[in-house]
Amino acid sequence: MTVLPDYPCYLNGAYGPLSEARISPMDRGFIFGDGIYEVLPVYARRLFRFEAHMERMERGLARLRIENPHTRAEWLAIARKLIEQLPDEESQRIYLQITRGVAMRNHVMLPDLVPTVFAYTNPAPPMSAELRHQGLACVTARDFRWEQADIKCVSLLGNVLARQISADAGAAETILLRDGFLTEGSSSNVWIVKEGALLGPPRGEHLLEGIRVELLRELCGECGIGYNLCPISEAELFAADEVLLSSAGREVVAVTTLDHEPVGHGALRGKPGPVYARLYEAYQNAKPTQSI
Ligand code: PDD
Repeated sequence: MTVLPDYPCYLNGAYGPLSEARISPMDRGFIFGDGIYEVLPVYARRLFRFEAHMERMERGLARLRIENPHTRAEWLAIARKLIEQLPDEESQRIYLQITRGVAMRNHVMLPDLVPTVFAYTNPAPPMSAELRHQGLACVTARDFRWEQADIKCVSLLGNVLARQISADAGAAETILLRDGFLTEGSSSNVWIVKEGALLGPPRGEHLLEGIRVELLRELCGECGIGYNLCPISEAELFAADEVLLSSAGREVVAVTTLDHEPVGHGALRGKPGPVYARLYEAYQNAKPTQSI
């Protein structure tokens, strides 16, 4: 059996080590993947974009008709207490999960269940400078997931199957295309650079609205980089000057090969490009640097 680390954990009102947390096998998260999750970055021991993560979580809970078991102030208190319990780690990542609760198996959304609330934090070291300078190798695949990919739900089998395609190919992420148009990565949003502007696919049910979608809009504004959300065809993806990924864990990172071919043109072919470099720097400057 895998031995879990003793990272600080919260489960249904009690704090303790992750390795000791226990839930019922009849939890609907376990049986149906019937729940919502969030991944929150922490820098300098401070939460980054907490309100935006809470808003998305609230939207997801409403879609699943699960009542939010906590106020934002309570969520903040839980997150802060977890952060405190990893005293030596400046950068952390908090995972939160709310499921519909425990009941005998029934597909119907049974009323009056008590949601299961689970959270833990773990250290989140920055991506190595080497990997950053090199960029990531990615592969593309058909987006075979369901049509409500905008819900950040714990039923992630489609994403797991998608991610494994790149893992099997020795690549870092699988970039998904639905009907010939870019959607997202298995656990990231995907961007292209065309004529100096950052372009991402439009919001909708085929992809998750990452918290970095709005953050990158702001950073593009600060840097004077054009920004637009519009349909991106497979041909545009492969012809892009730059390809970028964003997620809570990877922040913003360059994709330098796509299906084993170098991304970009001319001297920058296969190398992280200038728009990435500016956005990376702006991202670093946007992070909290001092704990309070
Ligand atoms: N993944 N799209 C998908 C399918 C994702 O799973 C994620 C994040 C994103 C980016 O969202 P954000 O900027 O809010 O991290 C887009 C998280 C980190 C995960 O599942 O671990």
